[in-house]
Amino acid sequence: MIILAFETSCDETSVAVVRDGRILSNVVASQTALHSEYGGVVPELATREHLRNIGPVTRRALAEAGVEPSQIDAVAATQGPGLPSALLVGLKYSQALAFALRKPFYGVNHHEAHLYSPWIGGTSPQADFEAFRPSVSLIVSGGHTLLVLVEGELRHRVLGGTLDDAAGECFDKTAKLLGLPYPGGPEVDRLAREGNPNAFDFPRPMMRDPGDDFSFAGLKTSVRYLVQKNPALLERRETVCDLCASVQAAIVEVLVAKTVRAARRHGVSWVTASGGVTCNEGLRYALAAACARQGLKLRLAGRSLCTDNAGMVGVLAEMKIRSGALPVSLDVEIDPAMTLAGNAA
Ligand code: KG4
Ligand code: ZN
Repeated sequence: MIILAFETSCDETSVAVVRDGRILSNVVASQTALHSEYGGVVPELATREHLRNIGPVTRRALAEAGVEPSQIDAVAATQGPGLPSALLVGLKYSQALAFALRKPFYGVNHHEAHLYSPWIGGTSPQADFEAFRPSVSLIVSGGHTLLVLVEGELRHRVLGGTLDDAAGECFDKTAKLLGLPYPGGPEVDRLAREGNPNAFDFPRPMMRDPGDDFSFAGLKTSVRYLVQKNPALLERRETVCDLCASVQAAIVEVLVAKTVRAARRHGVSWVTASGGVTCNEGLRYALAAACARQGLKLRLAGRSLCTDNAGMVGVLAEMKIRSGALPVSLDVEIDPAMTLAGNAA
């Protein structure tokens, strides 16, 4: 089965061709450079770029996969959550294509696409559902921080989420306070490698809370107070590296502790992580170390599949089709506030 998949929920225009769980092409046109000038995603600009890019990106994805439009069996696109005007471009374009090609259409939940992305192999982009096992899964990106119990293929239940800022948002906002360019996450990650994670003692919000929710707004505020009171801290590169390492350590420690604790509580032997923040070296390393200590097995989304991409959308659509999901109507609308619906026992 060949699926043409689309992802335009934020600032990446991505189109992928997936055949039998294998990603044949996964083209991502990133708008990071465009938005960095404004310190965040500007919805109007994102929409204009999606409109400009979606045709060429689609043609490239088909060409790289060596697939003709007539060979496609189904079309899938992210339906939500995300920026309304950005979602609209990918959804309407893909629905028009499905109509023209007379192919079934599937709308996909962006969170759910991240959720199953760790099972797509790193080097060979092949979904490894043979190895698939129940897990506690951390989804961490710019817009979301979720802990999910996955009981089986497409059977999952949200355990907790953030009460305020998402983990990626915390990286991006603290980076801004430290005078670093947007998006701050990768920059903090890079500078943290040269810094001392114990140099500054930032709070570990909700770390001792027995529930599975997170909160990162307080951490960001403590960074703000610190640099407002001591602006000289930002004058030395060495100190900025220490600040990055200390902020990252605080975020990572909370994410890892709560994920591992939830895995133990639910008696699963696997932990997975996905979403843009899973690119973070500190998080990858700390999760690996904590899982090894606790006898848990770990699957991290491959680096190129952590940030938004259509490959994960296509693989999820195929899982759904295999499990008997029916196509949705071609006039189905975007759902910008779509949540991760649970269907586990
Ligand atoms: O999944 P994603 O591409 O988009 C959303 O669905 O939000 O995630 C983007 C987020 C941004 O907040 C970005 O700063 C963060 O992921 N991110 C990182 C790293 N790479 C991307 N955060 C920390 N360290 C990184 N290396
Ligand atoms: Zn995402």
